[in-house]
Amino acid sequence: MSLTDFRTLGRSGLVVSPLALGTMTFGPGPFGADEATSRSIFDAYRAAGGNFVDTADIYSGGASEELVGQFIRETGSRDEIVLATKFGFNGSASPLAATQGSGGNPHAGGAGAKNIHRALQQSLRRLGTDYIDLYWMHIWDGVTPVEEIVQTLGDLVRAGKIRYFGFSDMPAWVAMKAATIASERHVPGPIAMQLEYSLVARDVESEHLPVAREAGMGVMPWSPLGGGFLSGKYNKADTSGSGRLSGPNPFGNSKFNDANWAILEVLRAVATELDRLMAEVALAWAMDRPGIASTLIGASKLSQLHSNIAATEIALSAAQMERLNTASAPPVGFSSGLTAPGIRAMLFGGHSVTGWGE
Ligand SMILES: NC(=O)c1ccc[n+]([C@@H]2O[C@H](COP(=O)([O-])OP(=O)(O)OC[C@H]3O[C@@H](n4cnc5c(N)ncnc54)[C@H](OP(=O)(O)O)[C@@H]3O)[C@@H](O)[C@H]2O)c1
Repeated sequence: MSLTDFRTLGRSGLVVSPLALGTMTFGPGPFGADEATSRSIFDAYRAAGGNFVDTADIYSGGASEELVGQFIRETGSRDEIVLATKFGFNGSASPLAATQGSGGNPHAGGAGAKNIHRALQQSLRRLGTDYIDLYWMHIWDGVTPVEEIVQTLGDLVRAGKIRYFGFSDMPAWVAMKAATIASERHVPGPIAMQLEYSLVARDVESEHLPVAREAGMGVMPWSPLGGGFLSGKYNKADTSGSGRLSGPNPFGNSKFNDANWAILEVLRAVATELDRLMAEVALAWAMDRPGIASTLIGASKLSQLHSNIAATEIALSAAQMERLNTASAPPVGFSSGLTAPGIRAMLFGGHSVTGWGE
């Protein structure tokens, strides 16, 4: 596989690479990359044939969008690139101030029509373009009716301001309801989901992935390395390491638990067998999972980007996939339990019946 092994994103005509360039690290900040490093990451991704670039209005306070827009302009690549950005988080007050109830503008966040129009205008300005290829609702706000979200985003598609839209970080039922409303009304609906998904984050398998399959939505994993955890650079005895998850950091230390250390050991064994880096094998696993359309990669250094792209060269054997699947299997919950092999056999007279898309 390579970055030019293009596929459509969900049931749409949007043609994308199997790895998308995440640019959350572009711009200032302790875990970010300065302009020169960001440019080298962008150029290397493009040189490898990648066409799918993901940013958000909130990343580095808008600097990520500005840098992405600048690199696209400098390289004259607007027509070739699938440019994705997001709305939803509120940039008018710091997260800390907001949790203390102070100060921000309630119309500068969420999924209401007023904010979507405001956010899009700002993103287009920072990106220096007049349309977005894929506009993401970054996070569901819990209050805006799904009907309003579909109407607002569908109108923007018809107005030519965005080509497609997708949902990130939402309950599965929100995506299913939006897709159903859209198909019943014959209007544009969401084509993709952006979700945390990796060897150490598989809980979306029970509800979100079946919804994506049913509604024809492509799935884009974010943090496929668990924020760097799956590169193997942290260890149980000493998590200080050097990277995003070291010491006090806004991402917390939620990845450092016994279940994840055990997964890491299986990943290490498979990577050693293949003589590849653990990060590469973790990405190859995510890309190979059912329903995964394009996996987001993030890098704070150019060398990381090169090794992440090299994941496309790995073909895991069925036995290696099985070991990784077993080691990282999420607990069987109510929804996933309903489709367990034992139940299926009970319902179909002892036969194992495979459903469409499974
Ligand atoms: N929709 C959402 O809510 C959401 C949330 C998060 C991210 N995203 C998107 O997904 C993209 C990727 O997410 P992510 O950055 O969290 O992905 P990730 O792959 O889990 O983590 C990337 C980080 O891991 C470290 N790393 C990457 N490759 C490495 C390697 N080969 N060896 C060692 N360390 C390595 C780097 O951090 P250090 O060098 O600092 O260790 C890098 O910044 C983002 O850019 C963004 O576009 C979306």
